[in-house]
Amino acid sequence: MISAETRLCCVIGDPIKHTLSPLMHNAAFEYLGLEFIYVAFRVKADMLKKAVDGMRAFNIKGMNVTIPHKVRVMEYLDVIDEVSREIGAVNTIVNDDGVLKGFNTDGEGALKALKEGGGDPKGEKIVILGAGGAARAVSYFMAREGPSDMVIINRTVEKAVRLARCISEKIGLEVRAKRLTVQNLKDELEDAEILINCTSVGMTPNINKTLVPKGLLRSDMIVMDIVYNPVETRLLREAKERGCLTIDGVGMLVYQGAIAFEMWTGVRAPVDVMREVVVKALRRRRL
Ligand code: ATR
Repeated sequence: MISAETRLCCVIGDPIKHTLSPLMHNAAFEYLGLEFIYVAFRVKADMLKKAVDGMRAFNIKGMNVTIPHKVRVMEYLDVIDEVSREIGAVNTIVNDDGVLKGFNTDGEGALKALKEGGGDPKGEKIVILGAGGAARAVSYFMAREGPSDMVIINRTVEKAVRLARCISEKIGLEVRAKRLTVQNLKDELEDAEILINCTSVGMTPNINKTLVPKGLLRSDMIVMDIVYNPVETRLLREAKERGCLTIDGVGMLVYQGAIAFEMWTGVRAPVDVMREVVVKALRRRRL
């Protein structure tokens, strides 16, 4: 029920109509009987400052920020936590009695999903595919856990080198960078324990694409994909066929949302409920 006490949360981005966040958060609010609602706003780039001002004016409790605003939104906030500053992007804003605080829950969401799926980066060799915004948040969080080795492999090798250098400086772990070639994948996957695809390759409509030849996947490897549409990407399907433990992208989506949810409401997020509605919606979309 919506009343004069109802608190508002939202997501801003452009485009925004495919976002699953309203579905996921409203299911969680309803399940717990919280007087919150969550809506999506398409906000054009030149309206970003006004949108953040609107958050202040309407006393909106929480906001998620997605493409293309994650970096620029930082200049309009009052406080930015250290992790988000180091990652260089904010995906969650908390309105704390008029003070707007920025956080990044993507990396922590990925780490939680990995751990829930049975993985632990500590002491393991991790291979990250990609060097964009998602790879940045994910690799930063994985590096903090103390892997034995970490390599970032990207089509544009210069971006991988930059990201590896940046993480090495911040975390003090020597991260390596390589160009995306079959030979480099072969060399690095030979003794890797965890592989995480942080590129968009395999996402609908290009569901038959994968960056990793099936033969390079070993049964004692954990393979995680941040792509969640489809839930089972070609990479994950082939990894399963090879006997690997697999973790789909819905995990990261749900956990990044769950962490934000807990910041806004102060209540533990019902992650199973959130996961269920997301998976159902994705299945419906594929029909
Ligand atoms: P996001 O913020 O979602 O990470 P992004 O910053 O655009 O998005 O990054 C997309 C990542 O997917 C990049 O690492 C990109 O590689 P490049 O840096 O070489 O562009 C990678 N990617 C996208 N399409 C790809 C493809 N067809 N083959 C290989 N890598 C691809």
